[in-house]
Parts: sequence; structure tokens; C-alpha cells
Amino acid sequence: MTMYNTNILCIGAGYVGGPTMAFIAYKCPHYRVTVVDVNRERIAAWNSDSLPVYEPGLDKVVRTARGRNLFFSTEIEKAIQENDVIFVSVNTPTKTFGVGEGMAADLQYWERTARQILNHSSNSKIVIEKSTLPVKTALAMERILKSNNNGVSFDILSNPEFLAEGTAIADLENPDRVLIGSRDTESGIRARDVLVEIYLNWVPRERILTTNTWSSELSKLVANAFLAQRISSINAVSALCEKTDADIGEVARAVGFDSRIGNRFLNASIGFGGSCFKKDILNLVYLCRTYGLEEVADYWERVVRINEYQKERFVLNMLNAMFNTLAGKRICLLGFAFKADTGDTREAPAIYIAKRLAEEKAEVVITDPKALPNAMLDLNKVTGVTYEIDPYKAAEGCDALAIMTEWGLYKGLDYRTIYDSMTKPAFVFDGRNILDHQHLHEVGFNVFPIGKPALAHF
Ligand code: UDX
Ligand code: ADP
Repeated sequence: MTMYNTNILCIGAGYVGGPTMAFIAYKCPHYRVTVVDVNRERIAAWNSDSLPVYEPGLDKVVRTARGRNLFFSTEIEKAIQENDVIFVSVNTPTKTFGVGEGMAADLQYWERTARQILNHSSNSKIVIEKSTLPVKTALAMERILKSNNNGVSFDILSNPEFLAEGTAIADLENPDRVLIGSRDTESGIRARDVLVEIYLNWVPRERILTTNTWSSELSKLVANAFLAQRISSINAVSALCEKTDADIGEVARAVGFDSRIGNRFLNASIGFGGSCFKKDILNLVYLCRTYGLEEVADYWERVVRINEYQKERFVLNMLNAMFNTLAGKRICLLGFAFKADTGDTREAPAIYIAKRLAEEKAEVVITDPKALPNAMLDLNKVTGVTYEIDPYKAAEGCDALAIMTEWGLYKGLDYRTIYDSMTKPAFVFDGRNILDHQHLHEVGFNVFPIGKPALAHF
């Protein structure tokens, strides 16, 4: 029987690998946890006081465990030799070339990692997929890892991450479930039990679900597809509300009271962003097409299409409200991150909206408490955009404010002062429905929420 030590390695120190491993080290002082990455700057940042990922509560977790039993390093090969339990959370972006371009996952980083594990292992290892991957990736990895007949055996497990950014630490502390997929063989089950033991340090047994590998991989894609579908559903209805006297807040509340539907994830918005939803749905779509399931593929693809429509609709609403021209007008985007409490801007709807406003020749001023460095990278080729951390200064002289991210701080701003500093008529486009629209209207703003009647002065 293979004996595994309790040294844990994670390859890939990004938004998933970093916080997840830091949390395991925090909860399990008896394990030694190493996180490696090819990106030297990123590892240096994990070893500094300025972590590369902003997550509420993460600083404390890292400060407690780092140097005690949590180590960040770039020595990947050495770490592979020293560890028997290896999580892999390298990036799996959507392919930008060749077959499956724009749809399938780009597995080059994963495959490179698998080969590295193979070349530097002299004893048996458990390899755990943490990144979201297309179904049957584990099988491909298994084939790579079994290609060398040197007596070293590998067990591949799927352990998808369900944490959401902004609440990662709370989600890790108290997960709805932990999902572990394995092969139904003696060694597969033994490997699975090693991983179950790790989670049992803080997760109750009944929340740890075990399935076969393929069900586990597919469940991750399906969970994200269902969540994204809810947002596209409520956003589709928001368009209808704007044409009628219905109010999306009231509709969502009435619908969400049905316990079969539930009241969470029903906030109409400018659209979903984040690194997972679009990518995972497109993976699902690609998978369906590969198996000839065109109708199923079309069905899920629509969820992404409605999301694109919602972003464009928001821009057209702005254009229409501001007398059909944005040229030369200053528009302040309040928020840029794809959601509150993160500096991450991957697939943020604000990217599309800022580009479209710039295309319409508006002057765009962007403010965000955490995401300005990423915003500058995302928009580095776009002209007519400026960045300002202070929301009051950002709004000065603007014709319109547009809420992109539901940061709590934007609810508490003094909108009377802001109104006084703006060009008139002044507009607010609340892309997250977080502000007090009645109050803004009384202050003098023309207010355009999502899926609710506008409050205008003309
Ligand atoms: C998501 C999944 O929730 C998580 O389980 C998975 O591991 C990774 O993908 P994340 O992308 O971090 O997490 O954030 P999430 O809270 O799901 O929000 C995604 C997007 O949907 C954000 O842009 C958010 O603003 C938007 N959203 C969410 C809405 O527009 N309305 C809602 O009601 C909820
Ligand atoms: P996620 O949100 O899935 O965590 P990120 O892009 O934030 O995605 O993180 C993925 C990390 O994986 C990056 O820091 C990247 O440098 C790292 N990475 C990619 N390929 C390799 C590799 N072959 N070996 C080690 N790290 C890698």
C-alpha cells in the first residue's frame, strides 16, 4: 500500500490556488503547504505585504500561516519531488487560436504541468485538478502521466473549486459542499480518502460529496452554467420591465419567495463577469457540439448571448437618454471590478462598456477602490480614458455617472455634493440598482436604473 505524507503542493498561485492553499495551511498547522508558480513577480508578491490578490480576510490567513507551514516558491521541480499530494490550479483560458477557438479551453498550461510532474516524480503521487477543466481532462492527464513506464503510479482526482471571489475566505471556511471525483478502483478510492481526510480538518463529512471523476468535472461546469443562467434570465426580464410599468426588484422578490426558486442570485445587472461563467458555459457548449448535441449547445450558448445583449443594451440606453450623442461628454464609471470586494477585472462588463463609450467619443473617467491597476491594463489601447481613485474627483465636471460595480462605498457617497460639481443636466445610470433612486431624483439627477422606470426631469 502506498503511504502518502502530509506535504501538500499546489502548482499555480492565482486567484484559486493562492487563497485555497493559504486556507488549508491556516486550518491545518500539521501540514506543510507549498505553492509554486512560474510567475516570479506573483510569488514575490505572495511573499510580501502586498498580496497579488485582494480578498477580504486573506491577509490575516496568509500572515498567520506563511513561514510556519505555508511557503510560496518558484522551485517547481524540487517541489514536485518533495510532495506526494499535488493540486494543480494553473490557468485554463478559452482558446484564442485553432480548433475550438473562442470556445474550448486552452489546455497547454495544464499539459505542460502534467509533463513536469511526470518528469520529476520518483514516487507515486496524487494529482488533483482544481482548475475548471473540460470534462475528460483527467483522462487526458492520466494518459500523459501513464506514458512513462518507470513504476511510478499516479491517481488523478477532480476537486473543483466553488469559491466566489470577494467571499473566498468565507466560502472556504464554510463551503456548501466539497466535491471529489475519483476512479472507482482500489487506488482511486485510496487517493480520494487522502483528500477527504484533508478537508475533514474543518468540513463536516456530510458536506463532502464523492462521485466519479467525470461527474465531478461536469458538475462544476453545470453549477456555473445554472448560476449564469439565473442572471441572464433576470436580465432578460429587466429589458421587458423597462418597456412596461413593472419593476425588476419587485418581480425578483415575488419570484424568489417561491422556495423552489429561492431568492439569491436574482439581481439584475449590466451582466455577469468573472473568469468562470463565460468560459465554463462555452466549454459546456463546445462539449455538447463535440457530441453532436446541437440543440443543447444552442440552449446554453443563449445564456452568454443574453449577457452580451445586456451590456450593449446598457450602452444604448445611455446614448438614448443623453440625446443620442455621447461625443465629448464626460462619463464617470463608478467601479470597474467584475463584482464588489475584488480587484479582479477578468470579463468585467465595465471593459466592454468603457470601450463602447470611448467608441462613441465620450471621455471616460474610471474610479474603483481596488481595480484601477487592472483597468489600466485592460484599456491600455483605448484612448480618451482617465483613472482617478477618489470618486468625488472622478465625478467632477462629468455629465453622467454609471455604476459598474456594487461596491458598498458607492451607496454612502454624498450625491448632493457630487451633483453640484457636475455638468447639467446630470444623469445617473445605475447598472447594479444599488442607489436610492428617489433621493437622487430629488437632488436633481435624471436616474436610469436597470429594469425599473426612469426618474427624469424632462
Ligand atoms: C463564480 C461562482 O459563483 C463560483 O462558485 C465559482 O467557483 C467561480 O465562478 P465568481 O465569478 O467569483 O464565482 O463570482 P459570482 O459571485 O458568481 O458573480 C459572477 C458575476 O455575476 C459577477 O459579475 C456578479 O456581479 C454577477 N451577478 C451575480 C449578477 O449580475 N447578479 C447576481 O444576482 C449575482
Ligand atoms: P485562477 O483564477 O484559475 O486561479 P489565475 O490566472 O489567477 O487563474 O492563476 C493561474 C496561475 O497559474 C498563474 O499565476 C500562472 O502563472 C500559473 N501557471 C500557469 N502555467 C503554469 C505552470 N506550467 N507551472 C506553474 N504555474 C503556472
